[in-house]
Amino acid sequence: MKKINIGIVGAAGRGRSFKLACDASGMVKIHAVCDVNEEKLEQARINLGAEQKYLDYDEMLENSDIQAVIIATPMNFHAPQAISALEKGIHVLSEVPACVSIEEGKKLVLAARKSKAIYMMAENYTYIKTNVIVKELVKKGFFGELYYAEGEYIHELKQLNEITKWRRKWQTGINGITYGTHSLGPILQWMHPDRVVRVCCAGSGHHYKDPRGNFYENEDTCVMLCKMNSGALVKIRVDMLSDRPHAMTNYQIQGTDGCYESARAHGERNRIWLRSKNKEMVWMDIEELEDEFLSDDWKKEASLASRAGHGGGDYFEIIDFVDAILGRKKCPIGIDEAMDMTLPGLVSQQSINHNSSWLEVPNSRDWI
Ligand SMILES: NC(=O)c1ccc[n+]([C@@H]2O[C@H](COP(=O)([O-])OP(=O)(O)OC[C@H]3O[C@@H](n4cnc5c(N)ncnc54)[C@H](O)[C@@H]3O)[C@@H](O)[C@H]2O)c1
Repeated sequence: MKKINIGIVGAAGRGRSFKLACDASGMVKIHAVCDVNEEKLEQARINLGAEQKYLDYDEMLENSDIQAVIIATPMNFHAPQAISALEKGIHVLSEVPACVSIEEGKKLVLAARKSKAIYMMAENYTYIKTNVIVKELVKKGFFGELYYAEGEYIHELKQLNEITKWRRKWQTGINGITYGTHSLGPILQWMHPDRVVRVCCAGSGHHYKDPRGNFYENEDTCVMLCKMNSGALVKIRVDMLSDRPHAMTNYQIQGTDGCYESARAHGERNRIWLRSKNKEMVWMDIEELEDEFLSDDWKKEASLASRAGHGGGDYFEIIDFVDAILGRKKCPIGIDEAMDMTLPGLVSQQSINHNSSWLEVPNSRDWI
């Protein structure tokens, strides 16, 4: 099969992680790279093995022989750059979140609906192995009716704010949940086809200053409560400022017949209780269920996948993107799923500024 020619924009940043996944997939060729950082562009081209390099994104879209683009630029460029590609019929795999405002989200949805090209959001935490096993167990009914979940992204990145300066504006320069899709994404896949219909958001106050002596606009910990269409409740906590060890992949889920709690720290257990596996209410390790509930594809391709990031998750994300382009599989995180994961955080930013009041989350399926 002829490989799909891909361009990576923002290549000097996360390009390398995508390179590992693209190489492992064997189906994608990184043909062109683009980055506004001229000093780093040539090195990025060499690192990623691309034939072409561009300083200007529109020029890459116009002149390069690429069928797809991976958007790995700062958050505020995701939607505009995705729209430009979709308008040219170029497939898009966009970093998270999909957009930085609801208005931008609407424009992106319309562009995706009009285009013949695939839009996929690269929510790689949905591909983490334990999250994939939970998804399979939910699908098979082991948890009964789901009614509560938690997701947390706790990742102190004050120093990184000074290196990747866009973070100081788009992640820690706005109050509310600015980077919530890693936490909400897997939960929405478990609760599918349920969606968040209302959110409220509150913060823990401001206890840290940036090197210029200014408090961060983002409160140290922000918690968003999400009311699902079914009545279920989801709690999302994002903290990018507190001094403490990282814990970016905390998840919990509760159903009428089982519950799951991911390990919060290195060395802890990913524990699960399922009524059908144990009448007594005691934990077992989710890894004990891997043989039975991890898909054959995962098992077969585990060693290939392990060459890519996030425990192999980044590899399966690229495979899904390619399968969607080739029409072999429905895109798992298409435009509406991307909006389901992104919009609650954007509405939480309004809630936290309005006395934490409950606000409706728009349904992108109404945007036609
Ligand atoms: N999914 C994940 O696990 C994960 C992890 C880290 C970052 N991210 C996301 O990936 C994106 C990039 O993050 P990063 O940490 O690599 O940031 P970064 O700042 O290290 O890299 C971004 C790159 O984009 C380039 N750039 C900026 N504006 C550009 C433009 N208009 N056109 C072309 N290039 C441009 C910069 O020069 C830089 O090289 C962010 O949106 C972030 O949220 C996702």
